[in-house]
Amino acid sequence: MLDVEPDLLAAELARLGERAARPVIVLGETGSTNDDAKAAAAAGGPAGMVFLADAQSRGRGRGGHAWHSPAGQNVYLSLLARPKLDAPRVACASLAVGVAVARAAAALGVAAARIKWPNDVLVADKKLAGVLVEGQLRGARVESLVVGVGLNVLATSFPGDLAARATSLAMLGGATNRAAVAARLVVEIEAALAAFERGGLAPFAAELADRDALLGRRVRAAGIEGEARGIDAAGRLLVRAEGGALREVASGSVELLA
Ligand code: BTN
Repeated sequence: MLDVEPDLLAAELARLGERAARPVIVLGETGSTNDDAKAAAAAGGPAGMVFLADAQSRGRGRGGHAWHSPAGQNVYLSLLARPKLDAPRVACASLAVGVAVARAAAALGVAAARIKWPNDVLVADKKLAGVLVEGQLRGARVESLVVGVGLNVLATSFPGDLAARATSLAMLGGATNRAAVAARLVVEIEAALAAFERGGLAPFAAELADRDALLGRRVRAAGIEGEARGIDAAGRLLVRAEGGALREVASGSVELLA
């Protein structure tokens, strides 16, 4: 059973300074909260609508990977936004949301969260949260944006190869009240999306550099092996390849080699 009653979440949101009630749909088990938010977007649902589930049977990550979504453990949350954005900016919105999730983690007692380009939030190289941003386009314009976040909260063990790669707020000594975690995520994501809509990644540049999990490390991305040299204003990963050329990687995933 989900211990996050809609009223509790609303109370937490009010405590964090939200003045108007927002539509919050709290579900037991669902397929994917991103799919629920996309359906709501297609049906004309309002900006700010939130979907939160106790468990997901088809939780998704980037590249079609499954997102481990057991009941009673974590936060699976999707926010429907309607920012004024051009389609090419959707991809780097996940970096702004990554910063928002890292800020939320800090407010919840875990200060050391880092962003692993393009969409992971790590602590000590273990994954605390993942971000899946999906844009619904009309031509070159974004009609709506679904921002999905999976954040490990109460889990103290993970199955299979996740055991070595994942962590949670509980394991890191952070807050474990899922209503408080979800409310903080909503507030930080909304603020970050507003800043991103106004200024792109510029308002996040300094913090992205500070929180960059890859900076100075050996990586392989888009077939390029070399040293990660940060993230540029367009959200591309910079890699200093063997031989010294600085290469820009616009999409895909990155493997940490050392
Ligand atoms: C990733 O690390 O690849 C992104 C994971 C995103 C998971 C969240 S959980 C809530 C929302 N619903 C989904 O199906 N996916 C996102």
